[in-house]
Amino acid sequence: MDQEQAFSFGRNWQDFLKSFDEGRVAIAEASLIDFLGLPDLRGKSFLDVGCGSGLFSYAAFRLGAERIVSFDLDEFSVQCCRYLRDRAQQPSHWEIHQGSVLDKDLLSGLGQFDLVYAWGVLHHTGQMWEAVENAAGLVKPDGYYYLALYNKILGRGGSPAWIHSFWLSVKRLYNTHPAVGMYVLEPLAMGAYLAMVLARGENPVTHLKDYRTNRGMSWRTDARDWMGGYPYEFATVEEVFTFVRGKFPDFNLLNIKVTSGRGLNWYLFRRTGHSYCEGADRGDTKSPSRE
Ligand SMILES: C[S@@+](CC[C@H](N)C(=O)[O-])C[C@H]1O[C@@H](n2cnc3c(N)ncnc32)[C@H](O)[C@@H]1O
Repeated sequence: MDQEQAFSFGRNWQDFLKSFDEGRVAIAEASLIDFLGLPDLRGKSFLDVGCGSGLFSYAAFRLGAERIVSFDLDEFSVQCCRYLRDRAQQPSHWEIHQGSVLDKDLLSGLGQFDLVYAWGVLHHTGQMWEAVENAAGLVKPDGYYYLALYNKILGRGGSPAWIHSFWLSVKRLYNTHPAVGMYVLEPLAMGAYLAMVLARGENPVTHLKDYRTNRGMSWRTDARDWMGGYPYEFATVEEVFTFVRGKFPDFNLLNIKVTSGRGLNWYLFRRTGHSYCEGADRGDTKSPSRE
């Protein structure tokens, strides 16, 4: 393992699966289809890029997807996903691979999909823009590209705010000194998080109990993922929109969920076969279009 990447996403997902239940799946299903604006995934093929726990592949299975392909770089994430496929009685239309979204040989054997789902993944590859392009290339005509990437907060003069360098240092420390990460950084970060909840006037017990409403996730898993997740890149909404439209002019932005903080921006593009925003093709459009 790379000395700078002691954190294993997959080990963290294994821990998450200890608290897995069908309630989390129902929340994940709702999160998938609400943003898509579809009632279910019947008749659709679903590619889960960087599947992590496999929760969203499982949700796609439950939503009736006709073909599911899940892959992840981390062998323990792959094991998690296999565990969930076993739970679904090993359906033959759900395949799982270990590999990288940067591996063009792997991708060329997968085919194209009605829905390519890459939530919280591509900014951890070390080559975010190449990963964004590779995953987009797997979307069928008329298909959807559903991705989430860390938001870039801008500082003075339009360069990335200092907070990004701060978190980069924390992540490096967490990865190069796992004991410091586990026994110092984790308790500090979790304490700071609870203090923030209290400062907002919320009851921390209720807040943590309700955390699962956030995509079926667990706050401990998310906190560790946030601190350990490395490499770490980020982008503004405008950068993502301009990049995707520049590479794929027939991708149109259908839905978006933005944050002003250090969280993730969600994007839903659809490959419609024609461009609704001619200006974007010339690189002079400043804001996302909506269909
Ligand atoms: C934050 S988790 C997101 C998991 C899942 N997509 C979700 O929404 O819960 C990021 C996942 O991306 C995987 N990952 C990181 N680099 C990758 C790469 N180059 N190719 C495929 N997966 C990768 C990690 O192993 C990890 O499981």
